Amino acid sequence: MDKTILVTGGAGYIGSHTCKALKKAGYTPVTLDNMVYGHDWAVKWGPLVKGDILNAADLDGVFAKFKPSGVLHFAAFAYVGESVQNPAKYYHNNVTGTLSLLDAMRRHDCGHIVFSSTCATYGVPKSLPIPEDHPQHPINPYGWSKLMIEQILRDYEHAYGVTHAALRYFNAAGADPDGEIGEDHDPETHLIPLVLHAALGLRKHIEIFGTDYDTPDGTAVRDYIHVTDLADAHVAAISRLLDKGASMMLNLGTGVGNTVRQVIEAVERVSGRKVPVKEGPRRAGDPPALYANAGGAGKLLGWTPRLSNIDATVETAWRWHEKRGR
Ligand SMILES: NC(=O)c1ccc[n+]([C@@H]2O[C@H](COP(=O)([O-])OP(=O)(O)OC[C@H]3O[C@@H](n4cnc5c(N)ncnc54)[C@H](O)[C@@H]3O)[C@@H](O)[C@H]2O)c1
Repeated sequence: MDKTILVTGGAGYIGSHTCKALKKAGYTPVTLDNMVYGHDWAVKWGPLVKGDILNAADLDGVFAKFKPSGVLHFAAFAYVGESVQNPAKYYHNNVTGTLSLLDAMRRHDCGHIVFSSTCATYGVPKSLPIPEDHPQHPINPYGWSKLMIEQILRDYEHAYGVTHAALRYFNAAGADPDGEIGEDHDPETHLIPLVLHAALGLRKHIEIFGTDYDTPDGTAVRDYIHVTDLADAHVAAISRLLDKGASMMLNLGTGVGNTVRQVIEAVERVSGRKVPVKEGPRRAGDPPALYANAGGAGKLLGWTPRLSNIDATVETAWRWHEKRGR
Protein backbone atom coordinates (compact mmCIF):
# COMPACT_ATOMS: atom_id res chain seq x y z
CA MET A 1 0.00 0.00 0.00
CA ASP A 2 1.21 3.52 -0.78
CA LYS A 3 1.70 5.15 2.58
CA THR A 4 1.90 8.79 1.45
CA ILE A 5 -0.78 11.03 2.94
CA LEU A 6 -1.47 14.64 1.92
CA VAL A 7 -1.99 16.86 4.97
CA THR A 8 -3.59 20.23 4.15
CA GLY A 9 -2.86 22.72 6.91
CA GLY A 10 -0.06 20.46 8.18
CA ALA A 11 1.98 23.48 9.31
CA GLY A 12 -0.75 24.45 11.78
CA TYR A 13 -1.42 23.30 15.33
CA ILE A 14 -3.42 20.07 14.99
CA GLY A 15 -2.05 19.24 11.53
CA SER A 16 1.58 19.31 12.65
CA HIS A 17 0.91 17.05 15.66
CA THR A 18 -0.89 14.66 13.32
CA CYS A 19 2.09 14.60 10.92
CA LYS A 20 4.21 13.37 13.82
CA ALA A 21 1.68 10.61 14.60
CA LEU A 22 1.46 9.64 10.91
CA LYS A 23 5.22 9.30 10.65
CA LYS A 24 5.31 7.18 13.81
CA ALA A 25 2.66 4.89 12.27
CA GLY A 26 4.76 4.38 9.11
CA TYR A 27 3.11 6.95 6.80
CA THR A 28 4.84 9.79 4.94
CA PRO A 29 2.95 13.03 5.60
CA VAL A 30 3.20 15.64 2.81
CA THR A 31 2.09 19.06 4.06
CA LEU A 32 0.32 21.53 1.78
CA ASP A 33 -0.05 24.86 3.60
CA ASN A 34 -0.31 28.46 2.38
CA MET A 35 1.44 29.54 5.61
CA VAL A 36 -1.18 32.19 6.45
CA TYR A 37 -1.22 30.70 9.96
CA GLY A 38 1.30 27.87 9.57
CA HIS A 39 4.86 27.64 10.89
CA ASP A 40 7.93 26.32 9.06
CA TRP A 41 9.27 24.99 12.38
CA ALA A 42 6.21 22.80 12.85
CA VAL A 43 6.82 20.73 9.69
CA LYS A 44 9.38 18.12 10.72
CA TRP A 45 8.08 14.73 9.62
CA GLY A 46 7.78 15.05 5.84
CA PRO A 47 7.98 17.52 2.94
CA LEU A 48 6.38 20.97 3.09
CA VAL A 49 4.78 22.33 -0.07
CA LYS A 50 3.80 25.99 0.21
CA GLY A 51 0.56 26.36 -1.71
CA ASP A 52 -3.16 26.99 -1.45
CA ILE A 53 -6.08 24.56 -1.57
CA LEU A 54 -7.96 27.23 -3.54
CA ASN A 55 -5.35 26.98 -6.30
CA ALA A 56 -5.95 24.03 -8.66
CA ALA A 57 -2.39 24.22 -10.03
CA ASP A 58 -0.93 23.96 -6.49
CA LEU A 59 -3.12 20.92 -5.84
CA ASP A 60 -2.38 19.27 -9.20
CA GLY A 61 1.34 19.76 -8.57
CA VAL A 62 1.28 18.09 -5.17
CA PHE A 63 -1.00 15.20 -6.23
CA ALA A 64 1.09 14.52 -9.38
CA LYS A 65 4.39 14.61 -7.52
CA PHE A 66 3.53 12.66 -4.34
CA LYS A 67 0.54 10.51 -5.41
CA PRO A 68 -1.01 10.40 -1.93
CA SER A 69 -3.42 7.57 -1.20
CA GLY A 70 -5.47 9.70 1.20
CA VAL A 71 -5.91 13.23 2.51
CA LEU A 72 -6.13 14.69 6.00
CA HIS A 73 -7.81 18.05 5.56
CA PHE A 74 -7.07 20.59 8.32
CA ALA A 75 -6.69 23.74 6.19
CA ALA A 76 -9.37 26.27 7.15
CA PHE A 77 -9.97 29.53 8.93
CA ALA A 78 -11.24 28.98 12.46
CA TYR A 79 -11.92 32.29 14.24
CA VAL A 80 -15.59 32.25 15.20
CA GLY A 81 -15.87 36.02 15.82
CA GLU A 82 -14.17 36.89 12.55
CA SER A 83 -16.54 34.53 10.72
CA VAL A 84 -19.48 36.62 11.98
CA GLN A 85 -17.83 39.88 10.80
CA ASN A 86 -16.58 38.48 7.49
CA PRO A 87 -18.54 35.38 6.46
CA ALA A 88 -17.38 35.68 2.83
CA LYS A 89 -13.81 34.96 3.93
CA TYR A 90 -14.92 31.82 5.78
CA TYR A 91 -17.27 30.38 3.17
CA HIS A 92 -14.67 31.03 0.47
CA ASN A 93 -11.68 29.49 2.23
CA ASN A 94 -13.44 26.68 4.06
CA VAL A 95 -16.22 25.64 1.66
CA THR A 96 -14.83 26.66 -1.76
CA GLY A 97 -11.37 25.52 -0.64
CA THR A 98 -12.73 22.08 0.28
CA LEU A 99 -14.58 21.79 -3.05
CA SER A 100 -11.36 22.67 -4.84
CA LEU A 101 -9.52 19.97 -2.86
CA LEU A 102 -12.22 17.33 -3.44
CA ASP A 103 -12.21 18.03 -7.16
CA ALA A 104 -8.42 17.65 -7.28
CA MET A 105 -8.83 14.33 -5.44
CA ARG A 106 -11.24 13.19 -8.17
CA ARG A 107 -8.87 14.31 -10.94
CA HIS A 108 -6.06 12.33 -9.33
CA ASP A 109 -8.05 9.29 -8.25
CA CYS A 110 -7.57 9.80 -4.53
CA GLY A 111 -10.59 8.32 -2.77
CA HIS A 112 -10.29 8.97 0.99
CA ILE A 113 -10.44 12.11 3.13
CA VAL A 114 -10.41 12.83 6.87
CA PHE A 115 -11.96 16.22 7.55
CA SER A 116 -11.60 18.55 10.57
CA SER A 117 -15.17 19.23 11.61
CA THR A 118 -16.15 20.75 14.93
CA CYS A 119 -18.57 20.70 17.85
CA ALA A 120 -19.55 24.19 16.60
CA THR A 121 -21.80 22.36 14.09
CA TYR A 122 -24.13 21.49 17.01
CA GLY A 123 -24.77 25.09 18.09
CA VAL A 124 -26.42 25.30 21.52
CA PRO A 125 -26.91 21.68 22.62
CA LYS A 126 -30.28 20.38 23.75
CA SER A 127 -28.70 17.55 25.76
CA LEU A 128 -25.34 16.64 27.29
CA PRO A 129 -23.06 14.84 26.63
CA ILE A 130 -23.56 15.55 22.90
CA PRO A 131 -23.94 12.40 20.78
CA GLU A 132 -23.18 12.35 17.03
CA ASP A 133 -26.89 12.19 16.14
CA HIS A 134 -27.66 15.36 18.11
CA PRO A 135 -29.35 17.96 15.83
CA GLN A 136 -26.86 20.31 14.14
CA HIS A 137 -27.84 23.99 14.23
CA PRO A 138 -24.68 26.12 14.07
CA ILE A 139 -24.89 29.65 15.46
CA ASN A 140 -22.09 31.27 13.41
CA PRO A 141 -20.73 31.15 9.82
CA TYR A 142 -17.67 29.16 10.93
CA GLY A 143 -19.90 26.35 12.23
CA TRP A 144 -22.09 26.57 9.12
CA SER A 145 -19.06 26.33 6.83
CA LYS A 146 -18.08 23.06 8.54
CA LEU A 147 -21.61 21.66 8.47
CA MET A 148 -21.90 22.47 4.75
CA ILE A 149 -18.70 20.52 4.15
CA GLU A 150 -20.10 17.52 6.03
CA GLN A 151 -23.06 17.53 3.62
CA ILE A 152 -20.75 17.95 0.59
CA LEU A 153 -18.76 14.92 1.79
CA ARG A 154 -21.93 12.80 1.96
CA ASP A 155 -22.90 13.88 -1.56
CA TYR A 156 -19.40 13.27 -2.96
CA GLU A 157 -19.39 9.80 -1.50
CA HIS A 158 -22.81 9.02 -2.97
CA ALA A 159 -21.96 10.34 -6.44
CA TYR A 160 -18.20 9.75 -6.75
CA GLY A 161 -17.37 7.13 -4.11
CA VAL A 162 -14.95 9.31 -2.11
CA THR A 163 -15.06 7.96 1.46
CA HIS A 164 -14.69 10.29 4.42
CA ALA A 165 -14.23 10.57 8.15
CA ALA A 166 -15.61 13.85 9.48
CA LEU A 167 -14.14 14.27 12.94
CA ARG A 168 -15.96 16.76 15.14
CA TYR A 169 -13.37 17.98 17.60
CA PHE A 170 -14.29 19.62 20.85
CA ASN A 171 -11.56 21.95 22.25
CA ALA A 172 -8.11 20.90 21.05
CA ALA A 173 -5.53 21.51 23.79
CA GLY A 174 -2.04 20.72 25.00
CA ALA A 175 1.25 20.19 23.21
CA ASP A 176 3.42 17.35 21.98
CA PRO A 177 4.48 15.45 25.16
CA ASP A 178 8.07 15.32 23.80
CA GLY A 179 8.07 19.13 23.60
CA GLU A 180 8.93 19.22 19.86
CA ILE A 181 5.90 21.27 18.77
CA GLY A 182 2.96 23.02 20.41
CA GLU A 183 0.19 25.57 20.00
CA ASP A 184 1.03 28.96 18.50
CA HIS A 185 -2.00 30.77 17.08
CA ASP A 186 -1.75 34.47 16.25
CA PRO A 187 -4.04 35.96 17.38
CA GLU A 188 -4.56 33.44 20.19
CA THR A 189 -8.16 32.93 21.26
CA HIS A 190 -8.00 29.55 22.98
CA LEU A 191 -8.40 29.47 26.75
CA ILE A 192 -5.45 27.31 27.86
CA PRO A 193 -2.68 29.25 26.03
CA LEU A 194 -4.27 32.53 27.15
CA VAL A 195 -4.26 31.41 30.80
CA LEU A 196 -0.66 30.24 30.40
CA HIS A 197 0.26 33.64 28.95
CA ALA A 198 -1.28 35.24 32.05
CA ALA A 199 0.73 32.84 34.27
CA LEU A 200 3.91 33.84 32.40
CA GLY A 201 3.13 37.53 32.93
CA LEU A 202 2.57 38.15 29.20
CA ARG A 203 -0.99 39.31 29.82
CA LYS A 204 -2.24 41.41 32.73
CA HIS A 205 -5.02 38.95 33.49
CA ILE A 206 -7.32 36.34 32.01
CA GLU A 207 -10.86 37.52 31.48
CA ILE A 208 -13.67 35.15 32.40
CA PHE A 209 -16.65 35.75 30.14
CA GLY A 210 -19.68 34.93 32.28
CA THR A 211 -19.77 33.79 35.90
CA ASP A 212 -23.53 33.26 36.18
CA TYR A 213 -24.06 30.19 34.00
CA ASP A 214 -25.97 27.24 35.41
CA THR A 215 -22.74 25.23 35.84
CA PRO A 216 -20.93 23.99 38.98
CA ASP A 217 -19.04 27.29 39.50
CA GLY A 218 -20.95 29.63 37.18
CA THR A 219 -18.34 29.61 34.39
CA ALA A 220 -18.64 27.94 30.98
CA VAL A 221 -17.87 24.24 30.58
CA ARG A 222 -15.83 22.83 27.66
CA ASP A 223 -14.31 19.48 26.72
CA TYR A 224 -10.51 19.83 26.33
CA ILE A 225 -9.12 17.03 24.19
CA HIS A 226 -5.36 16.57 23.99
CA VAL A 227 -3.92 17.30 20.53
CA THR A 228 -1.91 14.04 20.52
CA ASP A 229 -5.10 12.09 21.16
CA LEU A 230 -6.70 13.94 18.24
CA ALA A 231 -3.67 13.07 16.11
CA ASP A 232 -3.98 9.36 16.97
CA ALA A 233 -7.66 9.37 16.02
CA HIS A 234 -6.75 10.77 12.57
CA VAL A 235 -4.23 8.00 11.98
CA ALA A 236 -6.83 5.41 12.99
CA ALA A 237 -9.46 7.03 10.74
CA ILE A 238 -7.33 7.24 7.59
CA SER A 239 -6.06 3.69 8.16
CA ARG A 240 -9.63 2.46 8.36
CA LEU A 241 -10.67 4.30 5.18
CA LEU A 242 -7.62 2.98 3.30
CA ASP A 243 -8.64 -0.49 4.47
CA LYS A 244 -11.97 0.01 2.66
CA GLY A 245 -13.82 0.95 5.87
CA ALA A 246 -17.10 2.87 5.53
CA SER A 247 -17.40 6.63 5.96
CA MET A 248 -17.97 7.97 9.44
CA MET A 249 -18.88 11.15 11.32
CA LEU A 250 -17.50 11.05 14.85
CA ASN A 251 -17.10 13.25 17.91
CA LEU A 252 -13.61 13.56 19.37
CA GLY A 253 -13.66 14.66 22.98
CA THR A 254 -12.90 13.28 26.42
CA GLY A 255 -16.52 13.19 27.57
CA VAL A 256 -15.45 15.28 30.58
CA GLY A 257 -16.30 18.95 30.89
CA ASN A 258 -14.13 21.46 32.73
CA THR A 259 -15.20 24.94 33.75
CA VAL A 260 -13.10 28.01 32.98
CA ARG A 261 -12.24 28.27 36.69
CA GLN A 262 -11.15 24.61 36.77
CA VAL A 263 -8.79 25.27 33.84
CA ILE A 264 -7.34 28.30 35.63
CA GLU A 265 -6.86 26.23 38.81
CA ALA A 266 -5.14 23.49 36.77
CA VAL A 267 -2.73 26.08 35.33
CA GLU A 268 -2.02 27.39 38.84
CA ARG A 269 -1.34 23.85 40.15
CA VAL A 270 0.87 22.88 37.21
CA SER A 271 2.83 26.14 36.92
CA GLY A 272 2.98 26.97 40.61
CA ARG A 273 2.01 30.56 39.69
CA LYS A 274 -1.00 32.67 40.53
CA VAL A 275 -3.12 33.68 37.54
CA PRO A 276 -4.68 37.16 37.72
CA VAL A 277 -8.37 36.97 36.79
CA LYS A 278 -10.90 39.59 35.66
CA GLU A 279 -14.55 38.65 35.67
CA GLY A 280 -16.69 39.97 32.82
CA PRO A 281 -20.15 39.48 31.31
CA ARG A 282 -21.15 36.55 29.11
CA ARG A 283 -20.13 36.71 25.44
CA ALA A 284 -22.96 36.52 22.92
CA GLY A 285 -23.20 33.09 21.31
CA ASP A 286 -21.22 31.14 23.94
CA PRO A 287 -23.17 28.01 24.97
CA PRO A 288 -22.99 27.36 28.76
CA ALA A 289 -21.65 23.82 28.34
CA LEU A 290 -20.29 21.57 25.58
CA TYR A 291 -18.91 18.10 26.10
CA ALA A 292 -18.87 15.05 23.93
CA ASN A 293 -20.24 11.60 23.89
CA ALA A 294 -17.28 10.15 21.99
CA GLY A 295 -18.33 6.50 22.27
CA GLY A 296 -18.58 6.19 18.47
CA ALA A 297 -14.84 6.76 17.99
CA GLY A 298 -14.21 4.10 20.64
CA LYS A 299 -16.35 1.57 18.81
CA LEU A 300 -15.29 2.31 15.22
CA LEU A 301 -11.67 3.30 15.66
CA GLY A 302 -10.78 1.58 18.93
CA TRP A 303 -9.83 5.08 20.10
CA THR A 304 -9.95 6.38 23.62
CA PRO A 305 -8.19 9.52 24.80
CA ARG A 306 -5.04 8.75 26.80
CA LEU A 307 -4.78 12.21 28.34
CA SER A 308 -8.29 12.96 29.50
CA ASN A 309 -7.32 14.67 32.72
CA ILE A 310 -7.02 18.42 32.60
CA ASP A 311 -3.79 18.65 34.67
CA ALA A 312 -1.97 16.23 32.31
CA THR A 313 -3.15 18.21 29.28
CA VAL A 314 -2.21 21.57 30.80
CA GLU A 315 1.19 20.19 31.86
CA THR A 316 2.25 19.45 28.25
CA ALA A 317 1.14 22.94 27.20
CA TRP A 318 2.90 24.60 30.16
CA ARG A 319 6.21 22.91 29.33
CA TRP A 320 5.93 24.13 25.71
CA HIS A 321 5.01 27.73 26.57
CA GLU A 322 7.46 28.00 29.45
CA LYS A 323 10.37 26.77 27.30
CA ARG A 324 9.58 29.35 24.61
CA GLY A 325 8.84 32.12 27.08
CA ARG A 326 5.48 32.80 25.36
N1 LIG B 1 -8.19 24.16 17.47
C1 LIG B 1 -9.38 23.67 17.81
O1 LIG B 1 -9.73 23.60 19.00
C2 LIG B 1 -10.33 23.15 16.74
C3 LIG B 1 -11.57 22.65 17.14
C4 LIG B 1 -12.44 22.13 16.17
C5 LIG B 1 -12.04 22.13 14.83
N2 LIG B 1 -10.83 22.65 14.47
C6 LIG B 1 -10.45 22.61 13.05
O2 LIG B 1 -9.21 21.93 12.95
C7 LIG B 1 -8.44 22.45 11.87
C8 LIG B 1 -7.06 22.82 12.36
O3 LIG B 1 -7.15 23.76 13.42
P1 LIG B 1 -5.85 24.39 14.06
O4 LIG B 1 -6.22 24.87 15.41
O5 LIG B 1 -4.72 23.48 13.87
O6 LIG B 1 -5.68 25.69 13.12
P2 LIG B 1 -4.35 26.34 12.50
O7 LIG B 1 -4.73 27.70 12.03
O8 LIG B 1 -3.22 26.19 13.44
O9 LIG B 1 -4.08 25.40 11.23
C9 LIG B 1 -4.73 25.57 9.98
C10 LIG B 1 -3.66 25.62 8.91
O10 LIG B 1 -4.30 25.71 7.62
C11 LIG B 1 -3.58 26.62 6.81
N3 LIG B 1 -4.51 27.12 5.78
C12 LIG B 1 -5.62 27.88 5.96
N4 LIG B 1 -6.21 28.11 4.79
C13 LIG B 1 -5.46 27.50 3.83
C14 LIG B 1 -5.56 27.37 2.42
N5 LIG B 1 -6.54 27.98 1.73
N6 LIG B 1 -4.63 26.65 1.75
C15 LIG B 1 -3.62 26.04 2.43
N7 LIG B 1 -3.46 26.13 3.77
C16 LIG B 1 -4.39 26.85 4.46
C17 LIG B 1 -3.07 27.67 7.78
O11 LIG B 1 -1.93 28.36 7.28
C18 LIG B 1 -2.74 26.83 9.02
O12 LIG B 1 -1.40 26.39 9.01
C19 LIG B 1 -9.24 23.62 11.30
O13 LIG B 1 -9.96 23.13 10.17
C20 LIG B 1 -10.21 23.97 12.42
O14 LIG B 1 -11.40 24.52 11.92
C21 LIG B 1 -9.96 23.16 15.39
